[in-house]
Amino acid sequence: MNKSLDVLTIGDLAADLVLSGRDVVPEFGQKEKMLGDYSLEMGGSTSIFACQAAKLGLKTALIGKVGNDEFGALIKKTLKQAGVSLSYVKTDPSEKTGLTVILNAGNDRAIMTYAGTIDAVNKHDVPDALLKATRHFHIGSYFMMKRLQPAYPALLKKLKRYGASISLDTNWDPEEKWDSGVWKVLPLVDIFFPNANEARLIARERSLEQAVKKLQKVVPVLVIKKGESGAEAYAGGKKFAAQALKMKVVDTVGAGDSFDAGFLYGFLSGKAVADSLEIGCLCGSLNTTMPGGTRGQPRLNNLGGS
Ligand SMILES: Nc1ncnc2c1ncn2[C@@H]1O[C@H](COP(=O)(O)OP(=O)(O)O)[C@@H](O)[C@H]1O
Ligand SMILES: [Mg+2]
Repeated sequence: MNKSLDVLTIGDLAADLVLSGRDVVPEFGQKEKMLGDYSLEMGGSTSIFACQAAKLGLKTALIGKVGNDEFGALIKKTLKQAGVSLSYVKTDPSEKTGLTVILNAGNDRAIMTYAGTIDAVNKHDVPDALLKATRHFHIGSYFMMKRLQPAYPALLKKLKRYGASISLDTNWDPEEKWDSGVWKVLPLVDIFFPNANEARLIARERSLEQAVKKLQKVVPVLVIKKGESGAEAYAGGKKFAAQALKMKVVDTVGAGDSFDAGFLYGFLSGKAVADSLEIGCLCGSLNTTMPGGTRGQPRLNNLGGS
């Protein structure tokens, strides 16, 4: 089948307002605290992912909606600058663009979100011709995009028939139920990208080791992200590991999403799992050196020998 698109994803489109400082814990009683810094950037796990994929030269499209507002304009501008196709990003005047407020205390963060356009896409927004043209389909923010959850098993089966590979990064479950049909999706996934906590919670195991045992039986390539400790992968009965780079971390927003795109760049270029893991770690680590999810992302010519 003729594939004109390398990567397709569905956008949890939102802006990120990151508030940084030594003490970013709010106090009621009208207490006013001073911040060290703030940044306003495009957020959304899959949009950050799409930007990194496009920057690495993958032909990338995103299906999504933004509100008719300043945050929507910021998101479209950021996607466009990275080289992501905007052909399937619609402006919907009846919705507000999603907004995430992140309280950034260095290596940890608290997150509050207004959903808005994050969960605005439904299965009717996904054209069949586009699925046919796609080499690889990536699901991000699984738990937040509720409208699509019931549609995923059929959608993924169709993609498989059309010859696409599939990856999944659930991210955190804001409801902390860790189910929402994810076990119906996992057997259809080629690469699963949880971080270590998400892996344990989805597998319902106390130890990462047990979680890996369980998840490995279901997905051919299991990639566990471990923050500053790098990442590991399990594929073909083997274990691989890669280190994160030692970075002066500004914030870790989007590190995991950029990691996913870096790994996929390797995978779709036919590189070995170990090499793909290294590229993922490089993208994740560089991401942490700049505010927000996209500024630190490398382009293909920054990857060196990779
Ligand atoms: N503090 C950090 N220092 C260096 N690299 C990091 C840091 N945090 C994350 N990374 C890089 O980004 C990757 C993904 O980040 P991680 O926090 O594990 O994912 P997620 O954001 O999905 O939880 C890591 O594997 C690592 O390579
Ligand atoms: Mg993540």
